[in-house]
Amino acid sequence: MAKLGVNIDHIATLRQARGGVEPDPVTAAAIAELAGADGITIHLREDRRHIQERDLNLLRQTVKTRLNLEMAATEQILGIAAKVKPDMCTIVPEKRKELTTEGGLDVRINGDELKEAVDYLHRAEIPVSFFIDPDPEQIKAADKAGADYVEIHTGHFADAPDWKTQDQELIEIENAVKLARKLGLGVNAGHGLNYSNIKMFAQVRGIEEFNIGHSIIARAVITGLEKAVREMAQLVSFL
Ligand code: PXP
Repeated sequence: MAKLGVNIDHIATLRQARGGVEPDPVTAAAIAELAGADGITIHLREDRRHIQERDLNLLRQTVKTRLNLEMAATEQILGIAAKVKPDMCTIVPEKRKELTTEGGLDVRINGDELKEAVDYLHRAEIPVSFFIDPDPEQIKAADKAGADYVEIHTGHFADAPDWKTQDQELIEIENAVKLARKLGLGVNAGHGLNYSNIKMFAQVRGIEEFNIGHSIIARAVITGLEKAVREMAQLVSFL
């Protein structure tokens, strides 16, 4: 049975919009776990645009499932990860101006540097995953660099302009999963997955965990809005 990792970065984005204390990612993580999430994912970005070190430290203490830290392989973030010890570090490429992670790591080009990051995190006893495109060469390079897991980037599949292209993207993902497993790597997948396209993964075997953020938080806002307005309307009606 596949597992669900819930990415709660958007909760922190909303909090940062006012620079206050709500909504709190720590509360959101607890609710996600109570609702059945198998893990919580956060991305501590270099520009700290959403998740803060405070969140990482508190979530390390409160998450009862598994805490997956998405991160760039920079000296500063590697140091923080080694200190906090999440259950897994997923290394992603990071650009300051991007709205979200735009693609997978280029492990073929940056293999030596990434291997150093893996060795560093392994010394801190943290398993490491690489976020990569479903490309056989990247998978082989991830294996060579010592990654324990790969997270297959499903963004091109999710953004495919038509069904035919989407089917082709899914076949590439399927082949990537098979190769990764053959090499002994664990396999996760994520990016752009939603309540509709997730159903297409019924035909893909071997993915341990799906990491999903945007669609879950977007649905929570819409489905929770009616209750939130009713509660405020009732308070206002008493005035
Ligand atoms: N996996 C990785 C590596 C990501 O960077 C993200 C986005 O933060 C996700 C999964 C979740 O993607 P989405 O928010 O589109 O569900």
